[in-house]
Order: sequence, then C-alpha cells, then structure tokens
Amino acid sequence: MTPIRLDKFISERTEYSRSQIKQLAVRKMITVDGQVIKSTDLKIDPETVKVTVSGKEIRAERYRYILLNKPSGYVCSTSEHDGETVMNLVPPEMRTKGMFPAGRLDKDSLGALLLTDDGELAHRMLSPRHHISKIYIVKLDRPFQNKYIDLFRNSLQLADGEVCMPACVRGCEISEKLAFVQLFEGKYHQIKRMFSAVGNHVEVLMRVSLGSLILPEKLGFGECMELLHKDVENLFVAPDFDDFCRRFFGVFSANLINK
Ligand code: URA
Repeated sequence: MTPIRLDKFISERTEYSRSQIKQLAVRKMITVDGQVIKSTDLKIDPETVKVTVSGKEIRAERYRYILLNKPSGYVCSTSEHDGETVMNLVPPEMRTKGMFPAGRLDKDSLGALLLTDDGELAHRMLSPRHHISKIYIVKLDRPFQNKYIDLFRNSLQLADGEVCMPACVRGCEISEKLAFVQLFEGKYHQIKRMFSAVGNHVEVLMRVSLGSLILPEKLGFGECMELLHKDVENLFVAPDFDDFCRRFFGVFSANLINK
C-alpha cells in the first residue's frame, strides 16, 4: 500500500476529524507499532504497521462492514429526526463517517443488517438488478398453510396490485405458526404484505440471512460484529433455501417462539 499520512489514515477509518486526531496525539492516545506518536503528519504504510487509537487497533482496510442483529424499536436511518436509529447501536470505535445501513428492516423487525461505508457495495446490494437473497423467519398470527408455497412461488399479487418476484416459503415442524421466507427483492413492508395477501398476519419478523451471510447464533439482539472484506465478497451468492431450512429452523425458531 502506498504510504499515507497518519491523520488521513485514521480520519478515513473512524469518526474522528483531523483536529480531534491532533488532540488525541497530544493526549498520547495514538500509537504506531507500540510507540506513542506526537506528530500526526508522519507517513505510514498501513499494511506493515499497527496503529492504535485509545488502545483500539485501526485496521488497514479502507471500508468497514458491520453486521448488526437489529432489535425492535430502531429505525434503519442515519438521521436522528427519524427516531432512535440503528447507528446508535454501533460502538464508536466501529463507526466511520460515511457509515450507513445497507438495506432496510422495519422499525419493529429484527435481525441481520449490514452497516458499511462502502457505497459501491451498498449500491450493488440495493440495486434491483442484483436480486440479493434475504431469508427471514416469521411468527404468524394463524397457522402456516402449505398452499402458501405455490402462491409465493407464482408471483403473488399484493392488495394494491403490485406483483412480487417468485419467493420461497416453508412452514416449520416445531411450530405451526413459524415459517421461513426467501426473497430476492425488497418492496416496502414486503413480507407483511405478502402474508396479508394470503389471509394471514405477521406478528414478528426476523432476517436471518443476507446474501451468503448467516446471522451468527452468538450475536445477541443489539450486538454488532465486524466483518472482513472476504466475508462480504460472496454476498451475492444465494444459499440453497431447503438446505438452509433443514439446518437452521431449530436455531432461529428459538428466537421467535417466545416473542
Ligand atoms: N418485509 C417486511 O415486511 N418488513 C421487513 O422489515 C422486511 C421485509
């Protein structure tokens, strides 16, 4: 990697401004390879040195990818005007200036949400051309019916006439009111509107997979984890839905059964 000024390197990867970085250096909070740094205009090669700010390592990668297990009650927005946002759940040392939620879950929805400052990746994810797979588990008001499988597969029409792309749905043996759904698009309130179109109602909705990413069991509601670039490289590869259901019904149904 070409050498880069230390203050530029830190400011591109954190929320700190250049003047705040100067202050941090005065307060001896910045180290390069274990040495406290006083001057922030020195040039470093991020691939060969270890930089820390307030004891936390700043990684060399230009973009950050955070997987959040969204709890209910937070909006997918960066603007406080919209209410309490998912950004408030990201620890300050993981946040960067340009970070935003790459996709939307409703305020009352739960589960996997990617936050990133990689605008190009987010754009590809959100573009209707790319059809990224999203798998959800839902708790229904009334028992799941097998007729939903064909209805969802065959371009279901919503109440307002809008037609959905073919989607997959399976009931769950553990509870007649739980189901998994796989979508390849993201219309407004889509799953709630799809179940409403077949005469049911979604009580709880949780996204458990986004592209090739599967929400880790250990990640509790409201918790975040940092992903590596290689973790998001295969984002556009869709998991096999039947295989996913077989492997994960047990794991994820436990999250919704008592909600
Ligand atoms: N479909 C919905 O209805 N809500 C979500 O949050 C996601 C998909």
